[in-house]
This record gives sequence, structure tokens and C-alpha cells, in this order.
Amino acid sequence: MESTMTAKPHSSTFPFWWSRLGSFLSILPLGVWTVCHLWDNLAAFEGARAWETTVTGYPHPFGHIAVMVIVFLPLLIHTAWGIQRLASFTPNNQRYGYFGNTKYLLQRLAAIGVLAFLIAHIWLALVHPRLVEGHAEAFSDIASEMHFHGPTLVVYLLGTLGVAYHLANGLFGFGWTWGLIQGRRSFRITGAVAVIVFLILLVMSWGVIYAMYQAGAHFPPHHPLD
Ligand code: HEM
Repeated sequence: MESTMTAKPHSSTFPFWWSRLGSFLSILPLGVWTVCHLWDNLAAFEGARAWETTVTGYPHPFGHIAVMVIVFLPLLIHTAWGIQRLASFTPNNQRYGYFGNTKYLLQRLAAIGVLAFLIAHIWLALVHPRLVEGHAEAFSDIASEMHFHGPTLVVYLLGTLGVAYHLANGLFGFGWTWGLIQGRRSFRITGAVAVIVFLILLVMSWGVIYAMYQAGAHFPPHHPLD
């Protein structure tokens, strides 16, 4: 417990409302939306039409704009908040060799990985298909890339691993920030919840990747930037 507290020397250097805002947005809407997004993507098990209807199809253009604002604005704010915290980061793992500090370090390493993954993912799966190819991402394209383009497969496997860890372990930071975790018992319970959330997110993510990889064999090879 002491280790986690000593690992947050910066918390007093940021305005109170800013610290709380970045933390709040990480769960609502970002964490909730991440779970919904993975759930929707499980439609990959039901084939191209089901996936395209669930993931990329918006019955009304307003729905698409609303999602952009509700998700991307908080993502930008949380990213700015996170980068500011990364910049104020002083590792103390050698001084405090506790498990909590290792998880804290991993949380921040995962944040860098998640940032890189999200830039690639948003460009290749959202912006490039719509703006350059003139249509939403096609299931045949993403499934084929997952099957035939090794770097795509590796980036999705590692990127979703990072997201699963960052969100699940982030429950600690969130609980701490909002005073929800106090005492050894609640630390133990949060730890168990974090492990379960991590495993659920990972099974969902890798399940989607598996479904796409399998389906991809039935389509011609496709390069992400074609
Ligand atoms: C799917 C997108 C993301 C989700 C769901 C998410 C979720 C979370 C959660 C739940 C926390 C804990 C909040 C707290 O400590 O109060 C957190 C912390 C953090 N996030 Fe994110 N995050 C996402 C993307 C990013 C990105 C793109 C960055 C970019 C650098 C980032 C950087 C950080 C950092 C540095 C922390 C640790 C802050 C600290 O403990 O001082 N996150 N995130």
C-alpha cells in the first residue's frame, strides 16, 4: 500500500478537478465503451454481415457523430492527462521493490503501448477506409489482414493485451483516486476483480481476433493500406 502511495508524488502538482476529470473519463465513458466495443466485435463469430451491421453500420449519421464526440473527446482528454502524468514519472522500483510498484510501472508502459495501438487502429480501421477508400472498414478486409498480414495480427494481439491490462489494472488507480479503496481487504478484493476483468477483456479481444483470423482464410489477401 505504501508503495502505491509513494509512487504518486505528482498527484498534488495538478489541479484537483483535472486529476479527477482524467480519472473519471477513463471509466465513463472510455472503459464502458471499450467493453461494449469488444462485445460488438464478437459478432465476427457470426460472419461478415453480422459484424458489419453491428460494428460499422450506423442506422442514422447522427448516431455516428454522437459516438465520435462521446468517445473521442474523452479519449483526447484522458490521453492529454495520461501524457502529463507520464512526463512527471519517476520510477522508484529499486527503492520500493513492491508488487504494487511493478504494476504501476506496467500500467504506464501499457499506456504507451495503448497510445501507439490506438493511433494505428483508428487510422487503419476507421479513418483510412472511410476517407481514402470511401467506405467503412469491410469485414473481408480486416479478416484477411488478420490472416495473411503477420504485422496486423501481432499488433492486434499485443495492442489488445495492453488495453486489457491498462483498463483492468486502472481500476486500482480509479478506486484510489475516488477514495473507493481503503484498507487491506478492499485492496485484495480490487486485486481479484482486476484479474477477472483482465481475463474477461483478454478472452473477448483474442476471441474476436481468432474469429477474424479463421474467417480471413476465405478472402483474398488484403494489405491494410490498399
Ligand atoms: C481505451 C482507452 C483507454 C482506457 C479505457 C483507459 C483507462 C484507464 C484507467 C481506468 C486508468 C486509471 C485511472 C486512475 O488512475 O484514476 C488509466 C490510467 C492511465 N492512463 Fe489510460 N486508458 C486509455 C487510454 C490511454 C491512453 C491513450 C493513454 C496515453 C498515454 C493513457 C494513459 C494513462 C496513464 C499514464 C495512466 C496512469 C495515471 C496514473 O496512475 O498516474 N491511457 N487509464
